[in-house]
Amino acid sequence: MELKNGSYQLQGTKFESLKEQFGSPLYIYDAQAIEENIRQFRQGFSSVDLKIKYACKALTNISILKLMKKNGTGLDTVSIPEIKMGLEAGFEPEEIVFTPNCVDFSEIETAVEMGVNINIENISNLLKFSEKYGNQQPVCIRLNPHIAAQSQTEKVDWWHKQSKFGISIDQISEVKRMESEYGLRINGIHIHSSSVIMTPEIFINGAQAVFDIALQFENLEFIDFGGGIKVDVGDGKEVIDVVALGQALDPVFAAFCKKYGRQLELWFEPGRFLVMNSGYLLTTCVLRKQNSGAEFVGVDSGFNHLIRPMMYNAHHDLVNVSNPAGDKEKYTVVGNICEIDNFAIDRQLNKVEEGHLVVIKSAGAYGYSMASTYNSRFRPAEVLIHNGKAQLIRKRDTYDDLVKNQVEISI
Ligand SMILES: Cc1ncc(COP(=O)(O)O)c(C=O)c1O
Repeated sequence: MELKNGSYQLQGTKFESLKEQFGSPLYIYDAQAIEENIRQFRQGFSSVDLKIKYACKALTNISILKLMKKNGTGLDTVSIPEIKMGLEAGFEPEEIVFTPNCVDFSEIETAVEMGVNINIENISNLLKFSEKYGNQQPVCIRLNPHIAAQSQTEKVDWWHKQSKFGISIDQISEVKRMESEYGLRINGIHIHSSSVIMTPEIFINGAQAVFDIALQFENLEFIDFGGGIKVDVGDGKEVIDVVALGQALDPVFAAFCKKYGRQLELWFEPGRFLVMNSGYLLTTCVLRKQNSGAEFVGVDSGFNHLIRPMMYNAHHDLVNVSNPAGDKEKYTVVGNICEIDNFAIDRQLNKVEEGHLVVIKSAGAYGYSMASTYNSRFRPAEVLIHNGKAQLIRKRDTYDDLVKNQVEISI
């Protein structure tokens, strides 16, 4: 967003006019910013066969998926409906990877029928897969390599802190047994990089350990480093330079392929990197209130629309777009859910009055996709600004949406 001629705009469209056209609260996505993020992600890689599989759980709207497809990404999905949406958006099944965790084997069978790439992250389902498909169907395995990566600050980071995910490297012998007993064809090794992606050096250390594991498998077609790449949300926390990461990883991966004896594809599954800073939640201040010294700005939204601040203590920059020249004051910005519902505490904003528009930044990822109708409030509409034009890509909920699946019985 930019401040131009005294008003905040997104690709030439003023926030006031977006509210006039589509109402408040409103999710707004900037297609140009998403395209720029895809371009940036690719920039550092020059020689390897990079495949970006957009993790669509971050923002699943079909128009966004079409934008990804148009820009040459694949798709990372975690449920059958996500696969269906990907197919509807025009992705070929082979461009899609299914990386669920903790699912019944029947979901994996359905995904196989749909023709997508399968990624399995536990021994139980891998055994069922081996018994059913033998060597007929390739499978990628998600590993939990328990790699400790030492940063310059002596801080120790673990790949896969959450032990729920992945097949432990201690269980590789069981995977190898399935290979020889059932002819299981392992075509990919997957690691969800997550917190280890802090600096290229840390990442490369971890990647080398993954390559060592990969050398034990003969039928690989790709290595998938997952997602979890943090983005700069304005809180001063360290994030990785993805171009530098690409430049560092490119020759290392090429060298690994040479050692492996074949050119493999290099996959990543970024979600938030592609969409987080491309999205905004436009809200309206409906209430100004003082309580025990605190200055509250109450907006027409809440954690039912954007749960990250309450769930993860996530930082989101806020802008009072209605008062670009106003003096700074300190506010606690709250939502309308009948529980503690903070978007920001003690935050400096240009003086806010009732009726002002308060835009919450970095709302493109895990915003709408984690939204609910809690308190029986409607989920917002979604708008995509594409080629300079703001277009509705999802309608606001209505009362009918809230009750349509309820079955009223006589009491
Ligand atoms: C396997 C996998 N891939 C990709 C992602 C996307 O992560 P992010 O949006 O942080 O890039 C996740 C996030 O949960 C994940 O679990």
